[in-house]
Formats: sequence, C-alpha cells, structure tokens
Amino acid sequence: MALVTSTEMFKKAYEGGYAIGAFNVNNMEIVQGITEAAKEVNAPLILQVSSGARKYANHTYLMKLVEAAIIETNLPICLHLDHGDTFELCKSCIDGGFTSVMIDGSHHSFQDNIELTRKVVDYAHERGVVVEGELGRLAGIEDAVNVSDADAAFTNPAEVEEFVTKTGVDSLAIAIGTSHGAYKFKPGTKPQLRFDVLEEVEKRLPNFPIVLHGASSVIPEFVEMINGNGGKMPDAIGIPEDMLRQAAKMAVCKINIDSDLRLAMTGSIRKYFNEHPDHFDPRQYLSPARTAIKGLVKNKLVNVLGCDGKA
Ligand code: G3H
Ligand code: 13P
Ligand code: ZN
Repeated sequence: MALVTSTEMFKKAYEGGYAIGAFNVNNMEIVQGITEAAKEVNAPLILQVSSGARKYANHTYLMKLVEAAIIETNLPICLHLDHGDTFELCKSCIDGGFTSVMIDGSHHSFQDNIELTRKVVDYAHERGVVVEGELGRLAGIEDAVNVSDADAAFTNPAEVEEFVTKTGVDSLAIAIGTSHGAYKFKPGTKPQLRFDVLEEVEKRLPNFPIVLHGASSVIPEFVEMINGNGGKMPDAIGIPEDMLRQAAKMAVCKINIDSDLRLAMTGSIRKYFNEHPDHFDPRQYLSPARTAIKGLVKNKLVNVLGCDGKA
C-alpha cells in the first residue's frame, strides 16, 4: 500500500455518514500511537503535518515515519499539510511526496483567498494531489497566527459556491464555532456550534466534503492528569463529542484533532514523572505517552467519528 489521497475516503465517508480523523503528527511516538489504534479497528487515516511540525521534526523524517506506518499497518493513509499559508510551502510538500495540502487563505480577502487557492489547486491537481481550502476564520492559535475571538468569523454560506467553483478545491474547511487549542469556550458557558451554517453550506454544496478544524474535545481526564501531577492549566472546555458525532453524520468528512493528543501525551508524562521522579530513560516515559495516544485515538475512531471498519 502506498500513500493515498483523501478522495475515496471522503466519498465513502459522505455516503456512510461518518468522518475521517485527521490527526497532527510531530514525532515517532505520536505516529505510532495513532496508527496502532487505527490498525486495531481497521480505520482509514489522515496524518497531518503543520509547518511548525515540519520545522520541528524535518520533512524527510516525518515522511519516512508515515511510510513506516504504512508498511506496519497496511492501512490507507493520506499525508496532508495542515494550514499551509503560502504557495511555496504547499509546493514544497507536494514536491516532497504529500498527497494532500491545505492552503489556508482565510486571513486574506475573499478575492485574494480565491486567487491563492486557485494557484495551489492548479499545481497540486497536475501532480495528483488534493487540496483543502478554508472560508471563515477560527479563533485560537495555529503556528504564527493568533486569531482573537473578536477577529474570528463564521463562514458565510452565500460565498461557498463561488469559492469552490472558482478555486476547484477538493474539500472546504468552514468556521462554525470551533477554535484551535485547549480553551475553546469560556468556563461556565455552554458550548455551541452553528449547525445552521453547516446545513446551509451542505444545501449549497451537495455531496461536497466539509472539514472541521479545532475539533478536540479537551478530555477532562487528561486535563486532570496534568493538573493532578504538578500542572497548572486553567479551566479548559472543548467540543462535546455528541456535536462531533452530529457533524460527522452531516457533510463533515474530516475532523481535525491535535490538542487532545498533546494533552494525552503531556498528562501521561507528568504522571509518570510524579510517580518515578528518579527515572531518566526516555523510553520509560514515552511508552505510556504512546499508549495514552493510542487509547484516545481508538476511542475517537470508534465512538466519535464512526470510521472503524472502513479501511
Ligand atoms: O491547527 C493547528 C494545529 O494544532 C497545529 O499546531 O501549528 O502548533 O503545530 P502547530
Ligand atoms: P484542535 O486544537 O482542536 O486539536 O484543532 C486541531 C486542528 O484544527 C489542526 O488543524
Ligand atoms: Zn486547524
């Protein structure tokens, strides 16, 4: 099995009323934890790399880790650039073997977003690579971009047909109230998503795969594991799992998860050191971290996304 694009995955997910998990990867233990979980439940996967991950771990190392995961699991895996912000970055990932890229032009004007996205689509499609575009702005932090709540904006459904037609994108990320990071809703408030916006987008773009960023649920167990072992995280509220289930049944075919992986990994490492303050072999504390990621991802694939058995 070689790396695949997300085309077939999205077609089946749309028809089947489930979503594909898109998990951010930064090192070997994260790749192993995610792919071992997917192997156990026979789920297709999107592994995504941000520009920060690429700077941290290096393109070739990440590429080879994902290739190793394919050899070990024999699963259909799509390797995707998360939040590409320039044509050059997307080109570099396409030339370097990724099968999917996101060009995030959501910080530009509508016309400039179309122009930049079209340029990436032309380059990608000629080489058999698929492209995710974005309309609307999520709050939160992604790499160098910090979007405040005030600057965040829901996707305007009236713009989606023009955007998709003029750019030729293969999938579209929209903003319906999710946000990046661990602090998605104010403590004491009730999480809410604009399912009416998603419905309207779905009506205007029949059979078209929609992407949900900022979809971590911020599992309390892991926040408690951090705070119970010397951490000091403020109250963190994520996207309730039943809302993700609802989105997956609708047009949402790709659900992005990163913060939950970070919390699981950090929680288990903090716990390990709290219990073994004299240990210093990285394999000892990275093993439970990898196991925590595996458990988290398995639960997402089976109980939230519904993509188990679909590989
Ligand atoms: O949306 C952003 C992802 O969580 C990636 O985060 O840019 O810090 O690697 P990063
Ligand atoms: P979270 O911060 O909610 O995990 O979102 C990740 C994401 O959208 C990556 O693109
Ligand atoms: Zn994102």
